[in-house]
Amino acid sequence: MHPGARGASERGTPKVHLVIASGGGDINAKSSHNGTVHDESLTRHYGDAMELREALRTTHAVRSFSDQPVSREIVVEILDDARFAPSGGNRQAWHVIVVEDAARRQGLRDLYLDGWHDYIAHMMAGLVPFSPLASDADRAAARAQRANAEAASRPDGFPETLDHVPCLLVVTADLGVLAALDRDLDRYNLVGGASIYPFVWQILLAAKDRGLGGVMTTMATASEPAVQELLQIPSHHAVAAVVALGYPATTLSKLTRRAVSDFTTIDTFDGDALSL
Ligand SMILES: Cc1cc2nc3c(=O)[nH]c(=O)nc-3n(C[C@H](O)[C@H](O)[C@H](O)COP(=O)(O)O)c2cc1C
Repeated sequence: MHPGARGASERGTPKVHLVIASGGGDINAKSSHNGTVHDESLTRHYGDAMELREALRTTHAVRSFSDQPVSREIVVEILDDARFAPSGGNRQAWHVIVVEDAARRQGLRDLYLDGWHDYIAHMMAGLVPFSPLASDADRAAARAQRANAEAASRPDGFPETLDHVPCLLVVTADLGVLAALDRDLDRYNLVGGASIYPFVWQILLAAKDRGLGGVMTTMATASEPAVQELLQIPSHHAVAAVVALGYPATTLSKLTRRAVSDFTTIDTFDGDALSL
C-alpha cells in the first residue's frame, strides 16, 4: 500500500473496496427488461478485495513480465470486471481482440515498433511526441531523427519483444456509437476516447487485483489501417489501444505524479491554486 493511502485510512477515512475478485459473476448471466441489461453480480459479495485507494495510487505501467502464462479464464474474469466501465450514453463501444496467433503477434509488434521509432525520434528532436499542436517544422525535425531512433532499438526492449508478452489485447472502438461532443470543433478531437479509455483502465485495475500488471499502449494506432488489415477489424472501428498483460517481473513502489495544487485552480484557469 502507498504510505499516503495508509495514513489517510488510519486517520479514519471510510474504506471503499473494489468489488473485484476471482470467481465473480457469470459473464453470460444477464437479464433484460425494457431494453436495459442488468447484471446480478452487482449485488454479490466478493472476497479478497483490494482497497480502492491503494489501487488508485499504485497501479502503474508494467512492461516486464514473468514467463507465467495468462489463462483465458483470467482474461474473461478481467474483462468481466472491466465491462462495468462508464461510457457516453452507456454505448459500450468497445470490442476486444485477444491476439494469440504468433504471426499476428509479430505483425502487431512490427506495427508497434514503427510508432515507437517515431516516438523516440520525437524525443531525440526534443519534442513532445505526437503532440496535436506540432508544427510542420516539428514534424520534419522528428522525421530527421528517425534513422537514429531505429539505431537505438534494443533487441530485448518492450517494443521489440511485444510479441512475447503473455497476454495481448487489442481494444477497438465503434466510431458509429461514440458520443464525440467535440467532433465539430476546430481542434483536435478528444472526447470520443473518453468512452473507451475508462474501460481500458478498468482492465488494468482488474488485472492488478488479480496480481497481474500491464500497460495501455497506443503506438500501433499510428498504423491503424495496417492493424485493421492484420486483425480484420472493420474500418468503422478505431484501434484505441493495445494492452499488454502478464505477471509482473518488477514493480514500482512510488509513482511520479504532479501535485493537486499544480493542476487545479479556483474559478478560472489562471486562478489561485487549490490548496488547503
Ligand atoms: C493514453 C495512453 C497511451 C499510452 N501509450 C503507451 C505506449 O504506447 N507504450 C507504452 O509503453 N506506454 C504507454 N502508456 C503508458 C504511459 O507511458 C504510462 O502510463 C506513464 O508513463 C506513467 O507510467 P507509470 O504509471 O509507470 O508511472 C500510455 C498510457 C496512456 C494513458
